[in-house]
Amino acid sequence: MSASPSAIESVLIENRVFPPSEETVKAARISGMEAYEALCAEAERDFEGYWARLARENVIWTKPFTQVLDDSNAPFYKWFADGELNASANCLDRHMGTEVEHKTAIIFEADDGAVTRVTYRELLKRVGRFANALKAQGVKKGDRVLIYMPMTIEGVVAMQACARIGATHSVVFGGFSAKAVQERAIDVGAVLVITANYQMRGGKELPLKSIVDEALAMGGCESVRTVLVYERTSTPWNRVQGRDLSFAEALEGQDADCPPVSVNAEHPLFVLYTSGSTGKPKGVQHSTGGYMLWARQTALWTFDLQDKDVFWCTADIGWITGHTYVTYGPLAAGATQVVFEGVPTYPNAGRFWQMIERHKVSVFYTAPTAIRSLIKAADSDDKVHPKNWDLSSLRILGSVGEPINPEAWMWYYKNVGGERCPIVDTFWQTENGAHVITPLPGATPLVPGSCTLPLPGMAVAVVDETGHDLPNGAGGMLVIKRPWPSMIRTIWGDPERFKKSYFPEELGGRIYLAGDGAVRSEDRGYFRITGRIDDVLNVSGHRMGTMEIESALVAKTDLVAEAAVVGRPDDVTGEAICAFVVLKRPRPEGEEAQQIAKELRDWVAREIGPIARPKDIRFGENLPKTRSGKIMRRLLRSLAKGEAITQDTSTLENPAILDQLAQTN
Ligand code: WT7
Repeated sequence: MSASPSAIESVLIENRVFPPSEETVKAARISGMEAYEALCAEAERDFEGYWARLARENVIWTKPFTQVLDDSNAPFYKWFADGELNASANCLDRHMGTEVEHKTAIIFEADDGAVTRVTYRELLKRVGRFANALKAQGVKKGDRVLIYMPMTIEGVVAMQACARIGATHSVVFGGFSAKAVQERAIDVGAVLVITANYQMRGGKELPLKSIVDEALAMGGCESVRTVLVYERTSTPWNRVQGRDLSFAEALEGQDADCPPVSVNAEHPLFVLYTSGSTGKPKGVQHSTGGYMLWARQTALWTFDLQDKDVFWCTADIGWITGHTYVTYGPLAAGATQVVFEGVPTYPNAGRFWQMIERHKVSVFYTAPTAIRSLIKAADSDDKVHPKNWDLSSLRILGSVGEPINPEAWMWYYKNVGGERCPIVDTFWQTENGAHVITPLPGATPLVPGSCTLPLPGMAVAVVDETGHDLPNGAGGMLVIKRPWPSMIRTIWGDPERFKKSYFPEELGGRIYLAGDGAVRSEDRGYFRITGRIDDVLNVSGHRMGTMEIESALVAKTDLVAEAAVVGRPDDVTGEAICAFVVLKRPRPEGEEAQQIAKELRDWVAREIGPIARPKDIRFGENLPKTRSGKIMRRLLRSLAKGEAITQDTSTLENPAILDQLAQTN
């Protein structure tokens, strides 16, 4: 069974239900729907008491909090505001002297298959030594550190080391461009950059350090005093004297013991940039206390992590999923986890299945786009079908990043989970910090394509434009009506944009607007996410603003006069980027058009990163606009899909351009 675009729609009539097995229910942390409902009732009855209880159970406080929620300056909510803690101590030190101390924390598998393991004790030492190296470079509590690293133990260590000394990290995904690094370094005011000479992906050695050099040479990043370089490979790198140090040099002589710095619960643990519908990417600022509470609690609840589990979240640390379910949640929960450097298709598309067998992974968390591409690969080559590996260690599967279509869900359920493993389809966003809507493996009956029900305490609803609740069956906007501990605190340096983006006045200014459409099922009230309601695309589970791509295109000033970007359904990546371009020269055709399309694709990949490379580029003498000059995006979406135009085009100035824009290159 393979996914097709029409399959993505077919979720509308989904009535298969998969309740958890009796044994799963019995052994689970949240055992059965009654247990789930009891927690929801507790949160309902005593909202602050519920969160305070979880905050005490999950977090080690160096100074206990006496306040729970402070809404005096809403929507700038504060949680546990007079409490103090250290995030790294909550992931590492807490386990010393327990049975977790000598347990494997990370099983690292490199791109070439080489495996390294570290225990919690060893990880603590490495983090301590690295934290001391940061201090020796003058990094202080409150400073910002930019991390541009491959998926490695060192990447996790770098994040934890920042947390240990109270420095705020900002991780930039290793696939982003020099320009993206520069913009983020400037916006966040980084004092130090942690990078690697190269990263290994799919057998290829890809540069990181030279991209940092390029970014810093673009100017504006004068705050950056130091660049630390992890020598991932033996290939030499270019050293800027007085600024660059290798890890070996920076770590030389540093003690492994570094006392964790207590910070206030509201202290920014990290800033992570994500795309919005307008303007430059937003620096989503997260807290320390509330974030750590929900990172740990959801890791324990959603994945039901138990002592013997081997957890594997395939997300990169450059995304929120890698922050919460690689660097912080599983470690705070004392789990053993796999960290993987490479890609799912190297040396072949059986890599994930081979790794699950090899490391006896029991809880596996990945993205629908990965599943769909592996379905495709297995369909065309039986040798990479999961049936060729022993996947009997698996007990729970997870999905994240975009809606999972029921066909992909069923394939994952049957061929990976052996019809035995619940699939937790976790809905959340960078801004949420951790899971919001998700099934619980030992409680929730599953419906393919539905993320089911909110976690206890999460006041999720579907509302209309005026903020009123909609009945089951009616599509509307997904909102969260009450604050929660791991929520975004502000947009770094732009509190006004924070209010406007997430707490719009139209909804009263106190309700969090997710930016997604949703509908609840008539029978169970289960949530189904219907996709973004703003100009944000979801390509392979990665968020891309259409305006960002348009800006990148028009930045090619010698060639591009105007550009409009929309998404269209894609059976592997979920959505694909389709760009409509007006050139500063006559509309090209044939080979010339193909050549310019390629040039523009490469340009966007360089400006933003390969994930932003448009799949489809089309040329017109103009774009379809209303009389007032507004681009008719709905029309462009139809053209991108190859649909017949049914919209009213009577206001179009030049209808002939529709034929031009229907042609692909
Ligand atoms: C957007 C957030 C934190 C998750 C990784 C992406 C979409 C995410 C699901 C899901 C349907 C989902 C939404 C959301 N999304 N998970 N299980 N079902 N849609 O984080 O980059 O902040 O993107 O991803 O559209 O708004 P992100």
